[in-house]
Amino acid sequence: MADYSAASKKTVEQREAPSRRKPWVRLLLALLITPTILMILFGIYLVARFGGDTPVVYDNIEEHFKYGSTGGERMAGIPYWIFQALPRLFPHHLPGPGGYKSLGLIFEEGKDLPVGMSKRHHLGMDRTFLNCAVCHASTVRDTPQSKPRLYLAMPANTFDVKAFQRFLFACARDPKFSKKFIVPEVRRMLQERGQDLDLMDRYIVYPAAIWIAREQLLDLSGRFDWAVDQYDWGPGRVDTFNVAKMLFSFPMDRMGDHEQNAPSDFPSIWFQEPRQGMQLHWDGNNTKVEERNKSAAFGTGTTPPTIDLEAIGRVEKWLLKLEAPKYPYPVDQAKAAQGAGLYKEYCAACHGAGPRDFSGAYVGKVTPIEEIGTDRHRLDSYSYELAVNQSTLYAGYPWRFTHFRKTFGYANMPLDGIWLRAPYLHNGSVPTLRDLLERTPQRPKVFYRGYDVYDPVKVGFRTDVAEEGGRKYFKFDTAVPGNGNAGHEGERFGTELGSGEKEALVEYLKTF
Ligand code: HEC
Ligand code: HEC
Repeated sequence: MADYSAASKKTVEQREAPSRRKPWVRLLLALLITPTILMILFGIYLVARFGGDTPVVYDNIEEHFKYGSTGGERMAGIPYWIFQALPRLFPHHLPGPGGYKSLGLIFEEGKDLPVGMSKRHHLGMDRTFLNCAVCHASTVRDTPQSKPRLYLAMPANTFDVKAFQRFLFACARDPKFSKKFIVPEVRRMLQERGQDLDLMDRYIVYPAAIWIAREQLLDLSGRFDWAVDQYDWGPGRVDTFNVAKMLFSFPMDRMGDHEQNAPSDFPSIWFQEPRQGMQLHWDGNNTKVEERNKSAAFGTGTTPPTIDLEAIGRVEKWLLKLEAPKYPYPVDQAKAAQGAGLYKEYCAACHGAGPRDFSGAYVGKVTPIEEIGTDRHRLDSYSYELAVNQSTLYAGYPWRFTHFRKTFGYANMPLDGIWLRAPYLHNGSVPTLRDLLERTPQRPKVFYRGYDVYDPVKVGFRTDVAEEGGRKYFKFDTAVPGNGNAGHEGERFGTELGSGEKEALVEYLKTF
């Protein structure tokens, strides 16, 4: 028989033990245990409050593209309520009335953030930053009175990214960018919805967040000094690879003139599957779709450790098969058929056999600068040194970049959805398709861009409107360095055809 008595005796002794301890021992234990418990509880509170890292996720991929996260908010994210307070506190730093809309950002009905901005709960607060859609989605209106139609993966023709930066930097430099002004404004906005900041937010979290946001913006604005001296990009463009050089801490002030002022038009990014293996980016510097996507993700504030590969993967997969939207206005079929013949004869070898058939001897290859003759700033801005540095990106990861190359011209790209890709050429220097079929002296020298009302005759956006509802459009001057509108001209490029033939060609391109 087992002897249980010893065990039960011990239990009784143990139960009685505390009461037999001396009072000073009990006091000491209490003094030790209570703070420990409090610290554990406080730790649990801190984790609950500031831990966690949850992006807003949308099941619907289109919603995800518009408002989902690619991971950028972790590093670059602006606290959501501070972001919302800025246009209310600093409307004078915006280029016009209407808050963020004055920068060409698009707001869908009932949305609190523009298309192309995502939200993530990180470090105890909602933070927001840009995603792919801010540069790769835009609107079209049939008339100034029409409701805008949103098209995803088209170039963000209206968004002025430099003006957006300029606004944020001006706010950060403003003495009112402080807890004294921002906290009450945030509380006012919350109180309008029957909410408020709690004491922790009011006295610790927000003051700290405001200070950090200000420091980060000032730091970034210092690094963007080089861009201040450059001509404005205007809406729909960014100096892609000079921004990349800045991220690599290149000595920007020692950059040669020929590398500066290299704004490139935002491209469309739909239908990537048949583009695999093509030399793309405007100068054809990379043949791999996945690297182009990951490299683009730097533009959304992500870095190798913070990139949300799953989220980018979802977008990437969707973009593979997403086809360009159809032209919504009438097409003269007989004229288009005539144009199809001309296209086949002159354009197909470089731009693909048809609207969705991208076969062709030179498609996805580079035409040397001497032959294409377009503005060379963008080409020269992509230097050999940059290509070498890009090959160190994602070092240590299986997806380390290996496909960036210096090239010597511009890429022959497919033209699907070309009606939505105006203004044309890599620097957006030619307003419409019809203008592109003229020689340089006949192309518009100065025009306005950033407007979304469509011109179905010349095929592109209307460029004769300087201002609407207080929003000023960007005066594009082709005489400015980087804005040259020459090139892509001569017999092979269709500029020597008769005007009836040119119209037929434009009619056919509407079907792309
Ligand atoms: C700040 C604006 C901006 C953001 C944000 C941005 N892009 Fe882009 N993207 C560009 C510009 C400009 C180019 C053209 C680069 C060049 O060749 O100069 C480009 C090029 C591309 C291309 C190559 C297109 C082609 O046919 O040459 C792809 C693909 C692409 N982006 C995908 C993405 C994805 C995916 C995201 C989000 C992770 C993204 N981009 C975010 C501006 C942006
Ligand atoms: C030798 C190859 C070649 C031929 C032939 C050619 N193109 Fe191009 N095309 C290019 C290159 C390269 C670019 C980009 C140039 C740049 O942006 O600097 C381009 C740009 C374009 C663009 C602007 C694309 C955009 O997104 O802005 C259109 C439209 C276009 N071509 C139409 C045509 C048409 C129509 C023809 C036939 C009449 C034609 N091309 C003949 C090589 C060619």
